[in-house]
Amino acid sequence: MMHRIILSASVILGILGILVAENPTYVPDATWHAPDTAAARLNPLATRPGAVRGGKKLFLRNCAECHGQDGTGMAKKHSANFYLSVVQEQSDGALFWKITNGNADRGMPSFSKLPELERWQLVLYLRMLNQQPLSSTR
Ligand code: HEC
Repeated sequence: MMHRIILSASVILGILGILVAENPTYVPDATWHAPDTAAARLNPLATRPGAVRGGKKLFLRNCAECHGQDGTGMAKKHSANFYLSVVQEQSDGALFWKITNGNADRGMPSFSKLPELERWQLVLYLRMLNQQPLSSTR
């Protein structure tokens, strides 16, 4: 009886894990920190929510191969899951800095070649992911 309950609970959790996040256990690299001045920068597109559409296109073109079409990350690539609060609790400036500089040792490329405003559009898009039910972004 107890075994059954444990078994079905783990099956349900497993299915939820697949539905909710492809890298549900992502933990940011504690040594990868934006300097304070970079983290304090504000998104110049914060008052232009329409810019998020372009952000989605940029995301699908440049980021989805590692972070998944829906931004949930991929366990096998150790790539970030953007729905997790460990990511979302960081400032816009910190995420912008991470996108700009990358973390080459851990597989995140630098996107300093993308124009600055496109990188801010991407930050806007990552924030929007957090506000939507996962199913509507698929
Ligand atoms: C080649 C695979 C790859 C591509 C392409 C890629 N990423 Fe990443 N990304 C990663 C990995 C792996 C990590 C986790 C790095 C680590 O462990 O520190 C990461 C981490 C991040 C983080 C930091 C999350 C945290 O730990 O705080 C952000 C933000 C991010 N990526 C955004 C993007 C955006 C936006 C794009 C597209 C412009 C992109 N990434 C493209 C692999 C990739």
